[in-house]
Amino acid sequence: MTDARVAMISGASRGIGSEIAAALARAGWRLSLGARNPAQLTPPPGADALAHCFDARDPASEKLWVAATAERFGRIDAVIANAGIMIPKTVIAADDADLDDLIQVNVKSPLRLVRAAWPHLVASGHGRVVTIASLSGKRVKSAGSGLYAVSKFAALAMTHAIRHAGWDEGVRATAICPGFVATDMAAAATSRPPEGMTQPQDVARIVAFVLDLPGTASIAEVPINSTLEDSW
Ligand code: NAI
Repeated sequence: MTDARVAMISGASRGIGSEIAAALARAGWRLSLGARNPAQLTPPPGADALAHCFDARDPASEKLWVAATAERFGRIDAVIANAGIMIPKTVIAADDADLDDLIQVNVKSPLRLVRAAWPHLVASGHGRVVTIASLSGKRVKSAGSGLYAVSKFAALAMTHAIRHAGWDEGVRATAICPGFVATDMAAAATSRPPEGMTQPQDVARIVAFVLDLPGTASIAEVPINSTLEDSW
């Protein structure tokens, strides 16, 4: 369908990002998938998808990816800022370079991506921004997740700020805030069993649902609990 909506998904090569791509493809979206190595991107079978280079540490990357997406599809209706990193250090053990890296990848790059896509999101009339933030954007769970939480609190505030900035133009921004999700990132952070964690497919269908809501029923934040922590 040539008039189908178009979503950009960062970090789409694995984990939550690749499941979001699969869920949106099933829902009929056309996809622009970003990854540092596009050869590692496997678009969902049958999807109308562009695989493009995107490196959150390269400040030129977002504009190039947006331009290629607009050229290929002629429209951009949603940006899913999913790419992210975790550095498991306390704020005391971490140095400035660690914090800079987290802020670059988890905060500044998503904001650059949304800014670059902004004219297209506004032109869509129902532009959508979804950030994959974290429950670590809402509470500091432990010393070891403290530095990561600093970046995710910022990502959550950024999402609310985008929501305000786009409100009158029909753009709606939503922060998805999961606890542990069974991906490579959680496996590196904890030895707790993946079956007790939120499954990435479930995060993906929440994203698909949020994207479909009209501007008159928009959700700002979605906190998601696994079974491995207290109810939020
Ligand atoms: P993951 O490690 O499997 O995936 C992260 C994705 O981000 C990968 O595709 C990776 O290539 C990409 N990425 C990392 N650095 C990048 C860079 N410099 N440029 C471009 N892409 C880059 O982990 P997961 O769980 O799928 O993470 C997705 C998002 O979900 C992240 O923002 C993460 O912080 C967030 N999250 C994850 C939770 C978990 O327990 N797994 C819980 C809450 C939030």
